[in-house]
Amino acid sequence: MSKYVNHFIAIAISVLLLAACSKKQAEELKPVVPVNPGTQVTYTGFVQGLLQSRCAGCHAPGRGGASAWSFNGYSSVTANADKIKQAVLVSKTMPLGGSLSAADLQSLQTWFDSGMSQ
Ligand code: HEC
Repeated sequence: MSKYVNHFIAIAISVLLLAACSKKQAEELKPVVPVNPGTQVTYTGFVQGLLQSRCAGCHAPGRGGASAWSFNGYSSVTANADKIKQAVLVSKTMPLGGSLSAADLQSLQTWFDSGMSQ
């Protein structure tokens, strides 16, 4: 009888350990937010490079996404800020066929929130 009790205890401990491990893993998978809230995100320091590499391939004159918005410098971004925010940060439909990292999304959000400095 006590053999079964021991088995039961051993199984119970394993289950608890497993539960503890998977909980820890879930916590580790949370997106990291590396942007320090005090850090200023600027257009030339970050946004320009991001849009150039991740959006301009389609959003340039003559390309597939040009009718919606053409990437052509700072004012082409600020003039379309609401559309870009909606597509990238809210509905996340852009970049088409891909996605931005949590860090990039956070930096972009910070840039919009802090007044789109150049
Ligand atoms: C693989 C091509 C591709 C990439 C990469 C891409 N887009 Fe698009 N985008 C499109 C197409 C195609 C449309 C739809 C154009 C249309 O309806 O005429 C579109 C539409 C949009 C719209 C308009 C959405 C609306 O509802 O009005 C915005 C804003 C936009 N894209 C922003 C971006 C931004 C910002 C990036 C980079 C983070 C990006 N896109 C990356 C192809 C792309």
